[in-house]
This record gives sequence, structure tokens and C-alpha cells, in this order.
Amino acid sequence: MNHHELRKKFIEFYKKQGHQEIGQAALVPQQDASVLFTTAGMHPLIPFLMGDTHPDGSRLVNIQRCLRTGDIEEVGDATHNTFFEMLGHWSLGDYFKHEAIDWSYKFVTEELGIPKEKLAVTVFAGDKLRGVGLDEEAKQRWQSLGMERIDELVEDNWWGPVHSSGPCGPTTEIFVWSAEAEIPPNSLPGNDERWVEIWNNVFMEFNKTEDGQFEPLDQKNIDTGVGLERVLMTVNNYDSVYQTDVLAPIVAAISTDQLAHADRDVRILADHIRAAFFMIADGVLPSNKDRGYVLRRLIRRAVQAARKLDFTDWPLLTEAILGVYGPYYPQLLEQEIEAEILAEQQKFTKQLTKAVNFIEKAVQANQVVNDESAANLAFLAYQSHALPLELGYEILTEAGLVLGRKSFEQALDQKIKAHQEVSRAGSEKKFGGHGLILDTGELKASDETELKKVLRLHTATHILQASLRAVLGDQITQKGSDINADRLRFDFNYPDKLTAEQKAEVEAWANKLIEQGLPMNCVELSLVEAKKTGALHFFDHKYPDKVKVHYLGDSISDAPSKEFCGGPHVSNTNEIGKLKIIKEQSAGAGIRRIKAIVED
Ligand code: ALA
Repeated sequence: MNHHELRKKFIEFYKKQGHQEIGQAALVPQQDASVLFTTAGMHPLIPFLMGDTHPDGSRLVNIQRCLRTGDIEEVGDATHNTFFEMLGHWSLGDYFKHEAIDWSYKFVTEELGIPKEKLAVTVFAGDKLRGVGLDEEAKQRWQSLGMERIDELVEDNWWGPVHSSGPCGPTTEIFVWSAEAEIPPNSLPGNDERWVEIWNNVFMEFNKTEDGQFEPLDQKNIDTGVGLERVLMTVNNYDSVYQTDVLAPIVAAISTDQLAHADRDVRILADHIRAAFFMIADGVLPSNKDRGYVLRRLIRRAVQAARKLDFTDWPLLTEAILGVYGPYYPQLLEQEIEAEILAEQQKFTKQLTKAVNFIEKAVQANQVVNDESAANLAFLAYQSHALPLELGYEILTEAGLVLGRKSFEQALDQKIKAHQEVSRAGSEKKFGGHGLILDTGELKASDETELKKVLRLHTATHILQASLRAVLGDQITQKGSDINADRLRFDFNYPDKLTAEQKAEVEAWANKLIEQGLPMNCVELSLVEAKKTGALHFFDHKYPDKVKVHYLGDSISDAPSKEFCGGPHVSNTNEIGKLKIIKEQSAGAGIRRIKAIVED
């Protein structure tokens, strides 16, 4: 079965059951700025699931493009994608469990032709937390249809809400046996990973309130999500979604190798670039925050995979994506998407070149004597020049080193783990249980997005201090600093209110520095050595015997900014964007306070 047939069959089938086909929403939620992307077909329908009247009635069907990056590390396996299409149908207070289960069973066995023996289902086992018991009704319905393999699970069989509150409910999922081996007698989705989930029927009958209660909704809804790629995979007995006719042409454009569809890098490149096309078509552009940051990461991961594969034929890849999706998504054809991706690729390549130069210098200076020191170098390049760690082996061997791959990677893994433990211990010590993922006293962030922002503002604070000293004089010292995801706040000694000209000059100096795209480097030195570098620090502060110095640029001796500081920072000033002073005021006698933000 090809994707054209599947799309048609699904829509026609549910139309026959009285559903009205509705259009798709964009990947960027239009009515809900609190969520980065449309992650499910139900997302744009939340107001109607909560009781608003939908203009197209109470039975709806569509195919919705979705983006989920929670599983990004799993992309490369047989079934996980970031971008995918979801076949969905909804009952808005209309039919409920019986019809939803019966129709899904009929569609899977009759329309898709998957034999009952290859199916298993799961139902909600019930749990105290939500005060909801085993879904007897769903279980009995499946039994009445002759389904033998019924598993009862908790977390996997509860869906939603999308936000911290909103519509949610127990689910029943349908799985297809994906292996050639015979199905063992006691095999169920909860104990055997060879079952592939293709279908999720959510019985959306609860509203999770802001204070964590699950209260019954006025209307009982059905929310169904069916993965287009996964259905095509199982129905055609493929080993992975990359053999389906939506992804196979993209894989073929990347590599003509017969087994390319099984290669992890090929899969990552295919998945991420497909996602990037759809994101850009829906108005997202690479940047350092929110949606733009997700896109940037996807493109950069794709470029890394392309590099490993020696892949360069981007126009062929574009052609393949447009060939598959152009007929359904004309917006893909109307924009210069490939050019956006290549511009980002070039930026990334530039950054990579700096990391490569750094490595080459160290190799030429004979600093690498074994696999372990090679791993140390890769890690250093990661810290100081944002070298993607997965490219470490490749770039070091390109620089002329002969390495044992396994021992190098083990040494690198150890280095990463040791580093993570140190940071974890540090942040736990600083802030156990406050819900913040970063709190150094000066910096505060409660999630990944905030963290990115805070890092930009932190490096911007160093630059602001350097700029104030350049414009107002070297007598300027820091009297206080506080950074959250919204702004930086910097206090310093100065007797007068800053004039408009002075503020403009400080901003301009800082932005000129930012635009140079300087790496933020860090060295750990003995206190005596650190002081000798001339790095800024508090004269009345008691420092430990060893301190970290963060400095901008390649050399500490003539760095435009160097400070005693434990970090964390962005790896390059080009991640900061533009510094803007939003307020300048008094903060006590002889002390001025600047509040500033960074913009893309
Ligand atoms: N909203 C449900 C899902 O995404 C159907 O799985």
C-alpha cells in the first residue's frame, strides 16, 4: 500500500461514518503561543474538545503534520521521526468507546488487511494518582471482537494534556507484530519491543486542572492518532519507516546503497531535513531561541550526518522531498527552502572550521600522544569551540591522527560522564528541588529554552562590562549581577546618570564585539596565574586555589573580555544576537544599574 492509497482510504472510511474532513493547522500553533509546535492532530482542536462548537460538526477527520522533538535521540531507529503525519478522527461529545474501537478494528483488519493474529492492544490499567480504574469497558469491547492479546498499562495508556492542564484521558492502543519470528505465546506490547504501535484511541473524558485534579469533562470525546509512516511500514512488512514510499525516495537521494535505509546517519539526515523543510515552509527560521533554535539543531545534526556520509548533493535531496510532498503541501514549492538550509549549513561549517584549526594546532604541537589525550582534545574543542562530539573521531583522524576508535570513544564517553556528574552535582548542591535547572545565584533558568537564553545573557553581561570599561573608563567594576530568561541586570560604580550618547556608545561597542563571532574559552588556572592574566575579579573576594577564567577570542593575553567566572556561557558570541539596553537607573549612591536584553 502506498501513501496515496492510505491517505484516501482513511479519509473515505471515516467520511462514511459521518465525519467531515477538516483542513490542517500549521506546525507553528496559531492560537496557542505557549507550545512550540503542533505535536498532535488534537492540538488545534483543544477549544472544541473543551466544549466549544466546531463549525464542521461533532465528527471530524483529517491528516495533520506534526513535529515532536522529545524523541530526537531515538531518531535513527526503525520507527521514530521528528516530523510525521498523523491520521486522525474526532468525536466532539458524539460517539464514544464502542464505535471508536469497532471502527479502528475494522479499518486495521479490513482496510489495511492486517490479520487479527498479528495484532495486540493495550488498555488503561487504572491508577490512584488520577483516581481512574481499569478501563473495563474498552477491555470488554476488544474481547467481544475476539482480540486475545490485551495488555493493561498505566503511563503508556494515558494521553495528555498538552499543557500543564487541559483535556486528557485513558487510551487504547493498537500494535502490530513487526518481526518475522513467530509471536511468543505470552508476548504483549508491555513486555516485547517487537510490537509497533500504530494507533492511539484516546477517550478524552477528563480535564486536568491547574492544581493537578482530574475532573470529568462535560462532553466525552474521542481523539485518535494514527502514524502514517508506521502504518505504511507495518502494512508493507518493512523493517523501518525509511522503506515506506514517503521516505524511500529521500533515502535514495542520499545514498544509492541498497542498505542505506538501515544506516543511522542516512536516517538522521532524511528525517531532520524533511522536518526542516516543513518548519521553514511554516515560517520558522534558524535562530538561537525557541522554534528557531530547534530548527538550527535539526539542520546542524543533519549537516553532521551529511559530513559523515560524504553527502553533498543537496539539490537532489530537495527534489526528492518536493517530489513526495509537493502534491500535498504546495507551500513547500513556493519558498526557497533549500537556500535557507544551505545558509545555515555554511554558518555551521564556519564554526566547525575554527574547531578544526584548534585541533590541528594541537596535533601539530604533538599534544596528542594516545587515545586518551585525543579524547581530551576533542572534549576541549567541544567546550571551547562547540565541536559536535560525534564528529570528534572523524575530525581528529582527518587531522592526521591514528586512533583506536573504540578506546577513543570510551575515553570520550568517560570524559563526558565525568563532566556531567560535576555539573549535576554542582547544580543539585546549588538548588535542590526548586524546579530550576540552573541556579548559580547569578543565573536562573527553569527549562532548556530558558537555559539557552540565560547563557546568551550571561556572555552578554561579560561583554557589557568590557564595553562599559571601554567607554567610561577602567575604573568601572561590577557591583552586582542577576540574570534570568528575560533580561540581564548589571550594577557598577559610576557617579552620574549615563547620557543617551554614552548608552548608545556602550551598546554599539558591545554589538561590534558580538558580531565578530568570537569563541568563549575557559581555562582553569592557579589563583596566582589567573590574577596575572589581568582577568577581572572582585578584589575583596576570597577565591579558591584554582579558578576558572572565561575569555573571548583565541588568546587570553589580548582577549577583549576576561573574567574569573565558573560559567556557563554560549560557545561563540554569534549565538548572542543583539544587545539592547532597556533601562539605566540608580542603584544606590555612586552605583548605576543597567537592564539589558538580547534580540535575534
Ligand atoms: N493525541 C493522541 C496522540 O497523539 C491521539 O497519540
